[in-house]
Amino acid sequence: MLPTEKQYVQWHENETLHNARWLSQSNQVPPVRIVLIDDKTTADEAYRLACAGTSMLWHGDFQNARQLLQAINRRIERSEQRKISKAANKNKSTKTTAEPLVVSKQIPNLFHQQRQAQAQRSRVLSRLLLKLDASYVSQLHRAPDISAACTAAFGQLDEGMDESCLLSFRDLQGALGAAGWRAKGVPIESLGLSIFPHYGVFAPTRHEYVQLLLDARLPNACDVAFDIGTGTGLLAIILAQRGMQQVIATDLNPRALACASENFARLESAVQLQQADLFPTDAPLANLIVCNPPWLPAKPTSPLEYAVYDANSAMLRGFLQGAKQHLAEQGEVWLILSDLAEHLQLRSRDELLGWFADAGLEVKYRLDTQPKHSRSQDTTDPLFAARSAEITSLWCLVPVDN
Ligand SMILES: C[S@@+](CC[C@H](N)C(=O)[O-])C[C@H]1O[C@@H](n2cnc3c(N)ncnc32)[C@H](O)[C@@H]1O
Repeated sequence: MLPTEKQYVQWHENETLHNARWLSQSNQVPPVRIVLIDDKTTADEAYRLACAGTSMLWHGDFQNARQLLQAINRRIERSEQRKISKAANKNKSTKTTAEPLVVSKQIPNLFHQQRQAQAQRSRVLSRLLLKLDASYVSQLHRAPDISAACTAAFGQLDEGMDESCLLSFRDLQGALGAAGWRAKGVPIESLGLSIFPHYGVFAPTRHEYVQLLLDARLPNACDVAFDIGTGTGLLAIILAQRGMQQVIATDLNPRALACASENFARLESAVQLQQADLFPTDAPLANLIVCNPPWLPAKPTSPLEYAVYDANSAMLRGFLQGAKQHLAEQGEVWLILSDLAEHLQLRSRDELLGWFADAGLEVKYRLDTQPKHSRSQDTTDPLFAARSAEITSLWCLVPVDN
């Protein structure tokens, strides 16, 4: 939902000062320099303005703004490609006999550079703005009805205050994309059902790990299971379908809780839901505790990134540290974790195994799967070597003294 503290932007139109509420789900600060642009503005001009830090309030045809954003994006891509080729040529010319070491040391740098490039791309693309009224209606020519998607993503504005708002076209596209997923659902073929994600909730579009959860042998007792960080509720639904008698799902994100609750109702799944930091309170000990935590140890830069990035692996380590005390006798922990962080040299396998040991847990068995998503096949991605080697595992962990 919207940040509790309202932010405002001001700009001039025909020498009149205008004021509107600033909406940004990607945590972009309110723009200080805004110019008006329309269909006559060329893509080169808009790109140059955006790169120079000037925000552009769109006054042209709604659909043309979409094309302009794509054109700006292509220019950013070309500029990034030129930088990559330049860096690659520089590396070639400084080749030494110690090359493998140099290359391996570069991998975490490449990852951080790519994150910085993504953040910069997001800043530049977010400089194309549009104005909506307090019911999220755009007065632009050929504007579609976007109010339901905006309300679902950003919450209600104070209509009574007749407050208009400014937001980036990019954030609007995020809201429209999410509304599309929410309406049509993400099909999970191996389960023969669809899951309906909400805006700002981890959408299981890459769901190879579902098969791991279906293949793993259930513990001897199946009375109670927890799904920690449930997101859309997908894993909790599988646990209930597989016969766990009582399933308790938790998440910190209120959007995830609303989303999971809707999916449980839709699929008539009797999962209990709690807003909790990791483990549920007032719950019985569990025979099975499942968790698919954010898998990359890096600082999230916007609320939408919290499902993927986990600064210093805080959630992962907190989960491991707390799991044993919530387990019933002969209980099991199923940790779903991609090893991409290891290929990016952001975390080592020894470190992970050390955290298991520190938490009093040992590995009973491990099931692996290889992601097949398009990014893992993209040979032009500077991180292709790491992405194509990625394995996602279900680690079955049990207390050392079991
Ligand atoms: C990678 S997503 C997994 C979602 C879902 N379990 C799935 O597999 O599709 C990680 C989830 O953990 C949640 N999360 C992050 N930190 C948490 C915490 N400390 N306590 C509870 N949930 C947390 C996030 O909100 C997010 O929904």
